[in-house]
Amino acid sequence: MKQEIQNIRNEAIAQITRAKSAEELENLRISYLGRSGKVSQLTKRLSELSDQDKQEAGRLLNETKNIIHKTLSEQKNLLQDAVRDWFDPTIPGEKAKIGSLHLITQAINEISEIFTGIGFTRVRYPEVEWDWYSFGSLNFAKDHPARDDWETYWIDVPDHKKFGPMLLTPHTSSGQLREMERVKTPPIRMLNIAKCYRRQSDVAHTPMFHQFEGLVIDKDINISNLKGTLDYFSKRYFGPKRVTRLRPHHFPFTEPSFEVDIICDICLGKGCKLCKEGWLELAGAGMVHPTVLSNGGIDPKIYSGFAFGTGIERVLMMKTGLKIPDLRILYSTDLRYLKQF
Ligand code: DAH
Repeated sequence: MKQEIQNIRNEAIAQITRAKSAEELENLRISYLGRSGKVSQLTKRLSELSDQDKQEAGRLLNETKNIIHKTLSEQKNLLQDAVRDWFDPTIPGEKAKIGSLHLITQAINEISEIFTGIGFTRVRYPEVEWDWYSFGSLNFAKDHPARDDWETYWIDVPDHKKFGPMLLTPHTSSGQLREMERVKTPPIRMLNIAKCYRRQSDVAHTPMFHQFEGLVIDKDINISNLKGTLDYFSKRYFGPKRVTRLRPHHFPFTEPSFEVDIICDICLGKGCKLCKEGWLELAGAGMVHPTVLSNGGIDPKIYSGFAFGTGIERVLMMKTGLKIPDLRILYSTDLRYLKQF
């Protein structure tokens, strides 16, 4: 009898802990503890035993009953927890995560739209370039400081026979010659947007950044065309009050050359704490140097042109209301920042 009780106990525990539903548990309860269940049947047979055996078997049967009760209720709880983990209809659904365009991509799209709307063709020229396209053809002297190791990343490969050393282009002006070679006969209205590289890293500079470069070549192109184009861009991109001014400057590939300033959005030219003089530096520009036109196979006696170039990050930072305390955060892949846009 003692053995029989133990067998029933083991069998009951094994079956109950394998049960998968409340219904199964109820059936097991009846088959062990019900009126004609296995435990009850053994209880009825107690009278066949001697007094001493009766006492011990009685105690064992009670213990078994309790264990079966306990196991049943534990298994019931387990099953309920599992159901709850699987589906809780009171939890709001999870929205699918949708990405957004990076701030720089948004700016590139916006700038492209403004210029293509007035007849510019969007192009993109190599980031890994030859000295000839980035410097030589643009009239840079052999000892110009931009060729210095501190500014430009040079690539350690043998020089090209015609084009010189290989480098990561530090500006989009390298697209000027490539566009002249592609189009061959003007008119040219190029908008070159590409990544550029310089040895620099601080709150306002990243080693990789973006520039956009305009190049217009045709007959009778003059400084008014340049000024009109820059004003048009500036008003469309920054707002109707943001006019530009040209300030004499020097670049090897333009003559005359200018620095383009944009009127400060806070003081509108009067001068304030932020801008000091009322104007902020926006871009470099000028009339394409005759030597550059010749280098591109275009006759400077027939054609003239203007060019301008500046950083996408720079114009983005100057946009009203957008304050980026450290440019490097744009490329940090920190989603907490990027998600805002
Ligand atoms: N490439 C110059 C820079 O990176 C900017 C520039 C100046 C572009 C004058 C031009 C230009 O097209 O005419 O600083």
